[in-house]
Amino acid sequence: MSKPQRSVTVRVPAKVNVQLAVGPPRPDGFHDLANVFLAVDIHDRVTATPGTPAAPGAPGAPGVSCTGPGSDRVPLDAGNLAVRAAVLLAAHHGRDPDVHLHIEKDIPVAGGMAGGSADAAGALLACDALWGTATPRAELLALCAELGSDVPFALVGGAALGLGRGERLTGLPVGGTFHWVFALADGGLATPDVYRACDRLRGPQPVPEPAADPALLAALGAGDARALAAVLTNDLQPAALSLRPALADTLAAGEKAGALAGLVSGSGPTCAFLAADAAAAASLAASLADSGTCRTARATTGPVAGATTIESHA
Ligand code: C5P
Repeated sequence: MSKPQRSVTVRVPAKVNVQLAVGPPRPDGFHDLANVFLAVDIHDRVTATPGTPAAPGAPGAPGVSCTGPGSDRVPLDAGNLAVRAAVLLAAHHGRDPDVHLHIEKDIPVAGGMAGGSADAAGALLACDALWGTATPRAELLALCAELGSDVPFALVGGAALGLGRGERLTGLPVGGTFHWVFALADGGLATPDVYRACDRLRGPQPVPEPAADPALLAALGAGDARALAAVLTNDLQPAALSLRPALADTLAAGEKAGALAGLVSGSGPTCAFLAADAAAAASLAASLADSGTCRTARATTGPVAGATTIESHA
């Protein structure tokens, strides 16, 4: 029997923000956040296989390919977040980034569910195993934070409070499984545009320092969907609605169809709805899919684990 090609496959979850409190803009252009993340059971897979080693003296570059819904909108150049992750890890260890990355998308592209961040976290873990670089967890998390505000959470998963840009994480206890329905929109929204619209809509009024809502942390800890539904908030929602007014119809359709509550997921345009149980989520997903207010809808659950190696022939 021939030896299988060396490869490592990592699966990485999407996230929903159950609270996204946004502070004023910082001098570096980012915003301080109180960002309560929950990882949900929609995953991308990132597979790392050996790439072509660079010619002596020439800089190597990772190869990348992508399949799945929306993959035509994923850049396949040095700007791809998974490629940037491979380059960063290689530089960290002073080695060539000779790898090919294949991304199987299931997380909506530019949907406010941290799909690009998930791919970056997946690429870091897959390359680390393929290259045998055994990067300590704390270093991996620091590299994640360099790549983007949501990348550390994709590595960690579960539920966590993110402070700073959202990258300073504290794990949160969750007392049960929550049932969600995601209404997927056509096209995406660019995160920087949504933050800019948020600043514009707020105008000169003073913005309070973002802080986690104790009632929300208690609802998560108790696994109480009704209590959580009462306190879901997203400070980016008015901005996402201003850029995509039709999302108001999606939110109204979900609430009419029996959601406990609905909100825009992160910077949108995906809308997230909390349901009482699995049966309610399935019927809500069917109603939303038929409502004509979204491209499609899918039921899922959270929390789930962060980036996990599911196959390794390293
Ligand atoms: O960190 P990430 O690359 O995901 O951020 C994308 C963009 O979102 C940033 O360039 C910035 O415009 C905006 N952002 C922000 N404040 C944060 C996180 C993101 O303004 N805390």
